[in-house]
Amino acid sequence: MKVLLLNGSRRIKGCTFTALSHVADALKEAGIETEIVQIGSQVLNGSLTELVNEVHEKIKSADGLVVGSPVYFASPSGEIVSFLDRLFVSAEKDLRLKPACAVASARRGGTTATLDVINKYFAYAEMPVVSSRYWNIVHGNSPEEVVKDEEGMQIMQILGRNMAWLLKSIEAGRNAGIAAPEQAGKVFTNFIRE
Ligand SMILES: Cc1cc2nc3c(=O)[nH]c(=O)nc-3n(C[C@H](O)[C@H](O)[C@H](O)COP(=O)(O)O)c2cc1C
Repeated sequence: MKVLLLNGSRRIKGCTFTALSHVADALKEAGIETEIVQIGSQVLNGSLTELVNEVHEKIKSADGLVVGSPVYFASPSGEIVSFLDRLFVSAEKDLRLKPACAVASARRGGTTATLDVINKYFAYAEMPVVSSRYWNIVHGNSPEEVVKDEEGMQIMQILGRNMAWLLKSIEAGRNAGIAAPEQAGKVFTNFIRE
């Protein structure tokens, strides 16, 4: 089993990466393969379309997804939002029913608004959302500060463990013959007055 972790920061090895690495460590301890993909830095370099296609291919063989973002102006990074806007349109079918969770890193505030934005992509694609003991946030302006956020570090560890447990439970259910719900055709209405 494999989990893909997306880093929405422009800083390749910054605070968000540190938080995601902690989630990945807990997943690896539970026997789950992990891969961290740098999104923010690549989107900033103008390779959005190639990156969406590349990650879409990876998602086909992945079992779970973690999306991490730094807080920029009390929201997720513009880079991760641009990326998710594209990915969730093109890869919806391959994301569906795969467990997912969001992680936010901030110096001070705007974390819960950031989580809220990212969680909505998961709801759109019928992805079960994995939780931890508290909100999935870390605080700091540098990786050194983030590792000192002991509560945040524990939240990341529990998040990884909980995701591993859910992935294994889904696999056990599949092996026991529990079929996934069929994807319903979309009812798509616009609010236009007749
Ligand atoms: C453009 C920009 C906007 C930011 N806005 C906020 C903010 O609204 N609230 C906050 O607490 N931190 C803010 N920060 C700080 C980062 O969220 C914080 O340092 C984060 O942990 C960096 O993660 P990274 O190292 O993965 O990029 C901002 C940083 C940048 C570069």
